[in-house]
Amino acid sequence: MSALKNKKRLVTGIKSSGILHIGNYLGSIQPSIELQKDYESFIFIADLHSLTTVHDQKTLQKNILNAVLDYLACGLDPKNTIFYRQSDIHEHSELSWILSCITPFGLMERAHAWKDAINKKLKDPTIGLFTYPVLMSADILLYEPDIVPVGKDQKQHVEIARDLAEKFNYRYGQTFKLPKVYSPKQVETVIGTDGEHKMSKSYGNIISMFSEPEIIKKQIMKIKTDSTLLKEPKNPDTDIVYKIYSYFATPLEISNLKDKYLAGGFGYGEAKQLLLGKLTSVFEPMRQKRIELANNLGYLDDILKEGAKKARKIASQKLAEVKEKTGLVI
Ligand code: ADP
Ligand code: TRP
Repeated sequence: MSALKNKKRLVTGIKSSGILHIGNYLGSIQPSIELQKDYESFIFIADLHSLTTVHDQKTLQKNILNAVLDYLACGLDPKNTIFYRQSDIHEHSELSWILSCITPFGLMERAHAWKDAINKKLKDPTIGLFTYPVLMSADILLYEPDIVPVGKDQKQHVEIARDLAEKFNYRYGQTFKLPKVYSPKQVETVIGTDGEHKMSKSYGNIISMFSEPEIIKKQIMKIKTDSTLLKEPKNPDTDIVYKIYSYFATPLEISNLKDKYLAGGFGYGEAKQLLLGKLTSVFEPMRQKRIELANNLGYLDDILKEGAKKARKIASQKLAEVKEKTGLVI
């Protein structure tokens, strides 16, 4: 770890709640994976956050394992990155309680995720869902990161972490560093196959990363286009097939595709085939790697144990400081 001393620090987590899609990949996973060489990185599976929505033992276990496999298959390098499970570090829950004691009720009521849950008339919304951003603040503040890579929908939660850090520092003296959101503009909201909403499991408009090629093909063919043929020359800048292709293609490939749109007489079927080829070349090797990893569960266990050991060392120091400042140490 000493070689990492001068590096800036990054913290992020992902909820283990099911199938990953390319919006998750572009908005959250890829940015943190790309930064892992330049940042001292703490990446964790937010399994306690998953408990807000998953209430079945087998499903939760399966989702946690899937999330671990997903990250490793996407290129998380456990030699460079401290990779762990949130529930392995009890300091997260403990700090969450302490922070909740300085969190104004109104701040939680204004959180988008909570407001959404209420607007969608979620049956029996829980306290866990209500205080979700407090636990997330603890996840972040324990490690004093410089940046927190997340998609746009999570930005407000990171801002809440900043608010709580300021509140705590004001009341008890300088303790927490104020983290910054890291969210590259071009991928902060990846639009789904309906061409309208953000790609999300809840809108049913996803292109999944690790599904069988046949399923991915179906999802791509479902992308909503404005006509079946691109007979008329068309500027593709607002076209969703072109847009998704651009996330993964080289500048030359993007400009070649743009020329085809501009020339006209080119079918959406062809554009979708090009997209399918591109996504297959990016995700098929990852899918294969994921299958290999799934056959070596002992290795995954070792990585998470090692990660938890390193993360706990940092987290426990910060929590000890917090306990002292608040008066919990006599
Ligand atoms: P979903 O909306 O499909 O349930 P999650 O809420 O589990 O996805 O999101 C996990 C991470 O991926 C978060 O950091 C979130 O901001 C990011 N993310 C999710 N959907 C998108 C998207 N369409 N574009 C960019 N980032 C996204
Ligand atoms: N709430 C995030 C999500 O839904 C996951 C998460 C939990 C997280 N704690 C975090 C992300 C801390 C960044 C930092 O995807």
